[in-house]
Amino acid sequence: MRILLTGAGGQLGGDLITALLAQGHEVIATDLRPAAAGQNGRTRWDALDVTRGDDVLTCVERIAPDRVYHLAAILSARGEQQPQLAYAVNQTGTWNVLEACRQARVPQLVFTSSIAVYGPGLPDPTPEDVALHPTTIYGATKAAGEMLCDYYCHRWGLDARGVRFPGLINAAVPGGGSSDYALFMYLDGLRRGAYDAFCRADTRIPLMYMPDAVRALIELPAAPRQHLGRSVYNIAAFSPRADEIAASVARALPGVQFTFTPDPARQAILDSWPRALDDARARADWGWRHEFDLEAMTADLLPQMRTLLGAGVDLAGH
Ligand code: SER
Repeated sequence: MRILLTGAGGQLGGDLITALLAQGHEVIATDLRPAAAGQNGRTRWDALDVTRGDDVLTCVERIAPDRVYHLAAILSARGEQQPQLAYAVNQTGTWNVLEACRQARVPQLVFTSSIAVYGPGLPDPTPEDVALHPTTIYGATKAAGEMLCDYYCHRWGLDARGVRFPGLINAAVPGGGSSDYALFMYLDGLRRGAYDAFCRADTRIPLMYMPDAVRALIELPAAPRQHLGRSVYNIAAFSPRADEIAASVARALPGVQFTFTPDPARQAILDSWPRALDDARARADWGWRHEFDLEAMTADLLPQMRTLLGAGVDLAGH
């Protein structure tokens, strides 16, 4: 299968590309600055700005992919600093990708949504079909993107599907998310021996280790469409408090120091999100189940990060 990725230089791209290549797919990765995003010998990298509709259409028509993963987005914290940019990338960009898929007759689009579509005051755990009152431009544009995916499904027959991801953790430096504190506990715990988290110790949001997230992105598009009762699904793994993550890292890295100095803007975003997601629909419709809990993630991730840092790999350019 020929597979096109937008935003492939972000937190998800590297691990997803590796998994797709392992399955024997041809992968064409795109991002704003493909060279900076890194070269993988077996992946073609093209420059693509998803805010430029003509460029997106030209790219999709030229490549004629069997499946598109639309990963390009400005995350929640950075989006509040640059809302116009977040709107252009997340809203106009998603429209451009959907339109290009429609015009170029791409069979399938996979959309990456987020817990950020939710606002405060929801049941715990939170199912999919509750009132969505996101507090961020990121969440508002992701919610709209989900609705557009549904619209393109029934109006144009595009097989658009997606997942609402929890905060994701892997050996890559994310850019501008509110959930990044969890990842930095591992990264700075390892490279600095300390991390001052930008959230309260009792902050609790849904999180997921990247191998589970990547597996979801491979299993969902492979499911027969007639088994799917909806286009976009919650998927869940675990929901530790921030100080529980710190304790898990500290058990593996004795002597590491964690402190908590909440940043009001990011803390407010974190407090607006559900503490846990109800993913019963994904489990029933396409057999979703997570494998990694917090302790399994800590055991798997730290050695990996240590090896990459020891080898001088720039995790920001993952
Ligand atoms: N990790 C994202 C963020 O923090 C949520 O989808 O913005």
